[in-house]
Amino acid sequence: MQTGLPDLRSKRFCIFGLQGSGKSYLARRLLQSDPAHFVYDVMHEHAGCNRYLATHRQYTPEAVAELDLLVRRVVIGSGKVRLFVLDEASRYCPNRRPLPDSIAELNDLQRHYDIALGFIARRPVQLSTDLVELAHYLFIFTLRGKNDLLYLDSLASGLADAVAGLEKYHFVVVYPQRRFSVCKPIS
Ligand SMILES: Nc1ncnc2c1ncn2[C@@H]1O[C@H](COP(=O)(O)OP(=O)(O)OP(=O)(O)O)[C@@H](O)[C@H]1O
Ligand SMILES: [Mg+2]
Repeated sequence: MQTGLPDLRSKRFCIFGLQGSGKSYLARRLLQSDPAHFVYDVMHEHAGCNRYLATHRQYTPEAVAELDLLVRRVVIGSGKVRLFVLDEASRYCPNRRPLPDSIAELNDLQRHYDIALGFIARRPVQLSTDLVELAHYLFIFTLRGKNDLLYLDSLASGLADAVAGLEKYHFVVVYPQRRFSVCKPIS
């Protein structure tokens, strides 16, 4: 069982898991590891981090415009952000819908901007496949839904069993080559 977290500099990653499984706790750890972080704080739960408190919290034109403006002005525009995390990402980047322009641009060009990019969502099937399948790393806490588990197995053989059998606060890290390992809870 692994303990260390991978180096996420200039990488794209997603964090998945059931409600209360530990996604935000892990995200906080990752955010605290880089002072040049910024989090789009949808549920206003990342006190102490560099954050934007979202006004619009559902997938509406207003919500997409709010996110696009923030990403363009602060995340890309300031030149000072090295790690950007979008919490509740399936509200803004749902599967089978167009990505917000700024997120599509970041996802495509993030390596050139030198910004690490993280998306947090409960269920992988609800998040845009462009974000899931182009991610370098996936951090996956317990999931039980049949569709989610089937999807995980399509990403890496045996991943569904590993995720379904996780104990409290344990998680699986899926690496760029799509091998994976189970990690102990972060302390
Ligand atoms: N590794 C851990 N060690 C101790 N406590 C933890 C750990 N991970 C999470 N917790 C605690 O479990 C609770 C739920 O964690 P967290 O808020 O991260 O869940 P979540 O997956 O973000 O849930 P949601 O989907 O509702 O946003 C919190 O009180 C958090 O402090
Ligand atoms: Mg959370």
